Amino acid sequence: MKAIKGLVLSGGAGTRLRPLTYTAAKQLVPVANKPILYYVIENLVSAGIDDIGVIISPETGDDIKNTLGSGSEWGVKIQYILQDKPLGLAHAVKVSRGYLEDSPFVMYLGDNLIGCGIKEFINKLHETSSNAVILLKPVPNPSSFGVAQIDDGGKIVRLMEKPENPPSNLALVGVYVFDPSIHEAIDSIKPSARGELEITDAIQRLVDDKKKVYSHTIKEWWLDTGKKDDLLAANSVVLDDLIERRLNGEIDEDSTVSGRVQLDKGARVIDSVIRGPVTIGRDTVIKNSFIGPFTSIGSNVSIERAAMENCVILDNVTVSHIERLEDSIIGKNARVHKNHRRHNALRLMIGDDSDVEL
Ligand code: DAU
Repeated sequence: MKAIKGLVLSGGAGTRLRPLTYTAAKQLVPVANKPILYYVIENLVSAGIDDIGVIISPETGDDIKNTLGSGSEWGVKIQYILQDKPLGLAHAVKVSRGYLEDSPFVMYLGDNLIGCGIKEFINKLHETSSNAVILLKPVPNPSSFGVAQIDDGGKIVRLMEKPENPPSNLALVGVYVFDPSIHEAIDSIKPSARGELEITDAIQRLVDDKKKVYSHTIKEWWLDTGKKDDLLAANSVVLDDLIERRLNGEIDEDSTVSGRVQLDKGARVIDSVIRGPVTIGRDTVIKNSFIGPFTSIGSNVSIERAAMENCVILDNVTVSHIERLEDSIIGKNARVHKNHRRHNALRLMIGDDSDVEL
């Protein structure tokens, strides 16, 4: 059996993730201060995969390459595969054929986050001599996903991509394990009504051809950050589950930092209270402030005389003299401050796609 490879799908149209114009690549939006793609790579690496192909698009490919680099950060090899147009997930596999050769592979959608490792599912491919392993998760809105209908024994009966009348609430999670028979299945399907070569149709073809498709319903959390889950929700789930206490910055004696707080190098906490789970990036200064649970603060941020909870603050932001900020996302380089001279008047400079609730 050949060594298993990783295929990360990080192409796509490059639509900006509203309201953040942080980056055109949705896979690079930070969750708990780390680009989503990092979690994807780390999950593949911790399953023992050291050869990873990353699908990129002409629009956002350079950003992705600059962020992930050669893979040396993780001790693995990352290669980039250009997909000229976002013609579907199965199309992305097609253009990767030369890279994949006849190896089994894990296909991982670059905007998906899951709360479990994937080694178990790779093992399942071998143990059950299956041609594919797919992951399922019950969701309240199955029409937004690929949906699986399974029989009482857990066998797949049918798979459909974003059906109007879903036959079940079991969505296809964007992590799949395939053996090389998926290539033949892809070669035999036609583009869907939305003009894409759907991986869901290719897996259906495997089922129709009496190939073995093993499904497993995950109990852990799953987030499709591309559109369906908002960034605040993803941020709090990830902070809750993955953040450990690690204090690499400076905390003065008038401050209290309790719970699971990650304070990066160069960050300073002065006369403040921080209650985890919270993550604070490099060179950020928190002064005379309260930072409550489920908050992520990026690098080079300055927070003074402010209180906040359940917020995502991106890099280079300044917040000062704000009594209470809740459930808020503040984009890069923004300034939020109170004007003491004009108590009742608001003065705002609001960027593209913003959402302001007063
Ligand atoms: O997130 C799970 C869902 O992902 C599944 O339930 C669906 O069955 C599956 O089709 C997929 O649906 P989405 O509509 O969410 O896929 P999206 O177009 O957002 O693409 C997912 C990722 O793959 C995203 O990071 C962009 C990348 N991509 C997408 C296309 C269409 C590519 O790299 N190339 C492409 O051609």
